[in-house]
Amino acid sequence: MNYILRNGRVVDPSRKIDEKMDIGVRDGRICEPGKTGKAEKIDLKGLVVTPGLIDLHVHLRQPGRNDKETIETGTKAAAAGGFTTVVAMPNTSPCADTPATIEYIRLLSEREGLVNVLPCAAMTKNQEGKEMTSIGSLKKAGAAALSDDGRCVQNHEIMRHLMEYSKSFGIPILDHCEDEVLSAGGIMHDGRWSVLLGIRGQTAASEELMVSRDAILSEHTGCPIHIQHVSSRGSVQILRDARKRGLKISAEATPHHISLTDETMKTFDSNYKVNPPLRSEEDRQALIAALKDGIITVISSDHAPHTETEKLVELDNAPYGIIGIETELAVCLEELYHGGILTLPELISKWTVGPAEVLGIKAGTLEPGSVADITIFNPDKAHVIDKEKFFSKSRNTPFHGKKVRGQPIATMVRGRFVFSRISSVEGVI
Ligand code: DOR
Ligand code: ZN
Repeated sequence: MNYILRNGRVVDPSRKIDEKMDIGVRDGRICEPGKTGKAEKIDLKGLVVTPGLIDLHVHLRQPGRNDKETIETGTKAAAAGGFTTVVAMPNTSPCADTPATIEYIRLLSEREGLVNVLPCAAMTKNQEGKEMTSIGSLKKAGAAALSDDGRCVQNHEIMRHLMEYSKSFGIPILDHCEDEVLSAGGIMHDGRWSVLLGIRGQTAASEELMVSRDAILSEHTGCPIHIQHVSSRGSVQILRDARKRGLKISAEATPHHISLTDETMKTFDSNYKVNPPLRSEEDRQALIAALKDGIITVISSDHAPHTETEKLVELDNAPYGIIGIETELAVCLEELYHGGILTLPELISKWTVGPAEVLGIKAGTLEPGSVADITIFNPDKAHVIDKEKFFSKSRNTPFHGKKVRGQPIATMVRGRFVFSRISSVEGVI
């Protein structure tokens, strides 16, 4: 099917475009609107049209934890959230640390996935931080990146070697930064609220030490490094200093760290328990400032599904994690765009050029000739987030009941509508 998407506000940061224009889709690729041949015309007046959004950090849980999420449900959730590409973290069961597992995820995604899934491989065996994985073979099998997310390589010598391999194989490292001795047993941010509530805290120094370590090793090896879910003011300061010195260090922030603080833990609701933890207002403001001035170039959900039974226990025993891919666009439009912090092109760049640059891929653009991955949303539509409407298998969100402005309207992957709220357009969901 060919399409002419008419009258939308096209925001394409890759080409610095923000104007009302038509977009053509022919044989799964973007084309000039006059060159589609016979095509269905879709009126998108009042809506925003952007390159398909990329989420650099999601947990799809397959293989092994199909009770939390599967590739099928997780990619349905992504499509409904306005995302056309997701990077799947390797802390599955078994861990995605062999070429066979990466190939399995890739094949399953082709068969059952609604959006593009880029598998991320573990960088140490079973994410234990002790022995490197076979990086060359993992890349050959289709791994788009390396990460031990959920864990952090504690041994600096192993990390140094990993960076040397990452550089020579041209596969990026996405690093979860945590000194596991400092963070041990920490349920929430170590600060005023942890003291008041009597809950064991996790000092921000745990993250900051490893961000510094990564910056130093990046300088020594010349290897670019990407820091996952940055949560503290100190980390932002380290990133800012490193970037000033010309280091190739990038970073992401999550919708929850941008919009929530450690004060939420006074509810003792485990849906606020996440790693790294929600931090102070000062930390939150530092993240927002870093998004504005370009120190943080990526927003990612860290979509981390857990079952209701796992989360419905004492805070100490509940797993860390928040689902986010279905609320990410709306929460960020509300907080950052309607909050007057980022312009629409600035915000959209965090899900397009930002992640595409980290991955070194040609995506996140509406340039004619590129694959027709397209996101269409209403930036103003007011609604209340309802977790019962999620496509995800899990419900562990702190945003249920939140009033937001902004809603995904339709998602196109490789020229096919996989999700649609437009009455005249049929999507897969
Ligand atoms: O809160 C988190 N949950 N942080 C992580 O680093 C891992 C994730 C998970 O896999 O549940
Ligand atoms: Zn993580």
